[in-house]
Amino acid sequence: PIQPVILCGGTGSRLWPLSRETFPKQFHRLGQAAHTMLQETALRLNGLDADLPIHPRPIAVANVAHRFIVAQQLQEVCTQPPRVVLEPVGRNTAPALTLAALQAEPGDVLLVMPADHVIQHLPALHAAIAIAWADACQGAMVTFGIRADRPETGYGYIEMGTATASGSHELVSFAEKPDATTAQAYLDGGRHVWNSGMFMVRAEAWLRALRHCRPDMLQACSDALAQGQADTDFIRPDTDTFEACPADSIDYAVMEHLGNNPAWGIPPRVVPLDAGWSDLGAWSAVGELYDTDEAGNALVGITRQVGSRNCLLYSSGRLVAAVGLQDVVVVETDDAVLVSHKDASQQVKQLVEELKASD
Ligand code: GDD
Ligand code: MG
Repeated sequence: PIQPVILCGGTGSRLWPLSRETFPKQFHRLGQAAHTMLQETALRLNGLDADLPIHPRPIAVANVAHRFIVAQQLQEVCTQPPRVVLEPVGRNTAPALTLAALQAEPGDVLLVMPADHVIQHLPALHAAIAIAWADACQGAMVTFGIRADRPETGYGYIEMGTATASGSHELVSFAEKPDATTAQAYLDGGRHVWNSGMFMVRAEAWLRALRHCRPDMLQACSDALAQGQADTDFIRPDTDTFEACPADSIDYAVMEHLGNNPAWGIPPRVVPLDAGWSDLGAWSAVGELYDTDEAGNALVGITRQVGSRNCLLYSSGRLVAAVGLQDVVVVETDDAVLVSHKDASQQVKQLVEELKASD
């Protein structure tokens, strides 16, 4: 069957001060959504084609500090309780996925979903999953490609090849987070799509790819599980062993090396996805979730503005008032206020790192 795997162990630092280490963005409700981002991720699979066999218990991979938040939020929306793999420390997405792959049955097709996306048109997503399922069952690593409309440097880029019989395309090459010049060249060339960050692959195919690219990582994850503990709900890899695991993302560790590498057997694929996808990476993207006033201001919570344009004012309690601002983000929380230029909202991550260093 399809085994949903939800990656939700990130820190979401670019959405500071709303997103905090103790309560990162994926556990918040943003925009007009009825549920938190984590819950929306799980609920996204409801209504999937009835022919697709889907495992009723998703696997979530999260930081141990968030175990109760994750378990509770998923129990509220899933028919059966999730299995939650608890990382003692974050080692980025490649080890996280590997822990999940080692828990699944080797023949299961993992449907990997990061918990930090918004997807507006679920029928389009479900149609894409049905196509990807057919290829993944053959043993292919299947990615989902989003039409690129700006030279974004925070995403992975996939070069699409010719169409296949199933409706997917050949994946010619993969480049994670290119520099601005390269991203612009990809955009101009018209052959690249953004990597959505979701993908489908059989558990054994992922492990085979990792054994080829990063045997050290596979070993560390297997050892951490063998020496760890598990009950029906929580799986706890051994702390010291997992801490010693190298950190890397799925994209750098494996995706960039996929190409037409005969080592994989079946060549990788990309399924185009036109489903109103967005990554809520930074405040500028969050602003786009809300209706705006005539001057393009998104006003969330108790806010007032005069003579401002294209701003995001976000209040979680106190009145936030702005006069004559343009392209500015203001985010108010109990103990911190962020004021940032919209175009610089990616750099909030850097600010948070500096705050941490000076703690
Ligand atoms: N369990 C666990 N452990 N989850 C993690 C960890 C970790 O150490 N680090 C990140 N995650 C989760 C995050 O919570 C998020 O849901 C997801 O994994 C992706 O991590 P990001 O850190 O948000 O990745 P990114 O946005 O820089 O890049 C990825 O997504 C882009 C699209 O949004 C890449 O896959 C890009 O290629 C892609 O374009
Ligand atoms: Mg992300």
